[in-house]
Amino acid sequence: MSAVMKDFPTSVNQQFLATPKKMLINGKWVPALSGKTFEVMDPSTAEPIARVAEGEKEDIDIAVRAARAAFESGPWPAMTPSQRGKLVWKIGELIAQHADELAELETLNNGKPLAVAKAADIPLAADIFQYMAGWTTKIEGKTIPLSVLYTPGARYHSYTLPEPIGVVGQIIPWNFPLLMAAWKLAPALATGCTIVLKVAEETPLSALRLGELLQEAGLPDGVVNIVTGFGETAGAALAAHPGVDKIAFTGSTEVGRLIVQAAARDLKHVSLELGGKSPNIVLEDADLDVAIPGAANAVFFNHGQCCCAGSRLYAQRKIYDQVVEGVAAQARSIKLGSGLDPSTQMGPMVSETQRNRVCGYLDSGRKDGARAITGGKPRDGAGYFIEPTVFVDTQPNMKIVQEEIFGPVVTVAPFDEVNEELVRAANDTIYGLAAGIWTRDVSKAHTLAARLKTGTVWINCYNIFDAALPFGGYKQSGWGREMGEAVLENYLNTKAVTIGL
Ligand code: NAI
Ligand code: MG
Repeated sequence: MSAVMKDFPTSVNQQFLATPKKMLINGKWVPALSGKTFEVMDPSTAEPIARVAEGEKEDIDIAVRAARAAFESGPWPAMTPSQRGKLVWKIGELIAQHADELAELETLNNGKPLAVAKAADIPLAADIFQYMAGWTTKIEGKTIPLSVLYTPGARYHSYTLPEPIGVVGQIIPWNFPLLMAAWKLAPALATGCTIVLKVAEETPLSALRLGELLQEAGLPDGVVNIVTGFGETAGAALAAHPGVDKIAFTGSTEVGRLIVQAAARDLKHVSLELGGKSPNIVLEDADLDVAIPGAANAVFFNHGQCCCAGSRLYAQRKIYDQVVEGVAAQARSIKLGSGLDPSTQMGPMVSETQRNRVCGYLDSGRKDGARAITGGKPRDGAGYFIEPTVFVDTQPNMKIVQEEIFGPVVTVAPFDEVNEELVRAANDTIYGLAAGIWTRDVSKAHTLAARLKTGTVWINCYNIFDAALPFGGYKQSGWGREMGEAVLENYLNTKAVTIGL
């Protein structure tokens, strides 16, 4: 352990972690009704760092009732859009003010390098609240001129009212714990909804700290309720709860299907941000000094635990060897370690389960005849580390080419021409989240971008996120969009009002 790492956690977080963490329900910090708790781990050491309340069906029920009461009466629905906007802005401000301690919690609990949490997770989380704060005063209806053919001569005045959808259940994953909470909470608050947030069992800590900041910002009781617990119990109860009007989920496609089934009984609204197997395509005319590190970053950022990871790399034949070697060299140079060590470039997988899942794919790739030219195995010793891996000699039907691995593993395949065959290969998965294109040819870039069945296309860049830019999936990568103006639709109902004149 380096000298720097001994300073962690800093005293403010030591204090935060010292007592069992409770859940935020109706403005109070409460234990689970059952009294049960569970351990939360540091994935770089596999040691426990905190205990957290294990919320279940009964706790979800109380949280949903609190959210319903806060939606129907009390200070929240009485607030003006401007007051709501200022409150949402203030949440962003508080996140920014507490950036260091939040980043440290994120690194301790998720394993990501502290510098990454500081540069990306925390500022983006603050920013989405401040971006959404601006929308509160700009959610407008329309006036609509009517013709009403069967009432000749009669005149009507019609307008639409966008209204908050109601009580929203939000279920989030562990790969960007605070940022996923922010992506979900900010638009729901901006539209005037109330929320029960079920955070991932692996990484509840930063969202619980955010809960304290929500209170400090002055959010009325019951507007945001935060429940910690497991997916099969707390998550499933939230998705099935009849008092919830809408479920917003980010996570695996498999659980996305369960959410839809659970929501079907009451025909709840559902938005889903699910898995991906994103193609990243390097054309022979690309600037390889940019494309090679770009392709490595596309898959290795956040240890490959990104729904949009550029995990299927396609390189044109003429530059294929250079791209493979270049990305492999980048992979070999990545320093694995605790996220708290400033020299670390890649931390551990978030959990033993995730490490084992990724190892399963490494085995499957080898068995199917693919060749790992670097990496290909877990790192010995404590913590859930996997070596950054580059697979070649792949076939389109291999599991490692078809399924989301969610680890630092990329498959590389050559292609000959920018044609229909390339487009077919790029689109040949059940997913459609993101894609990358690297080329200097503007015409080819835009032609390809139009043909890819994905919600995001990055050209000569990758992993560019902005609060203003909609993000989401085609095909089995999801329903609806996160961020931008588009996400507001997830949380609004449209009412048409007509008056006879
Ligand atoms: P998961 O989909 O099981 O977990 C995500 C969230 O859903 C967690 O809060 C979990 O508690 C909850 N959940 C689990 N089962 C549920 C159920 N039956 N009803 C309601 N909520 C439930 O993801 P997991 O198991 O952590 O990871 C498995 C794979 O999912 C990963 O290897 C990766 O491929 C994918 N994944 C994709 C993410 C994305 O950002 N799109 C994020 C996390 C995982
Ligand atoms: Mg799961």
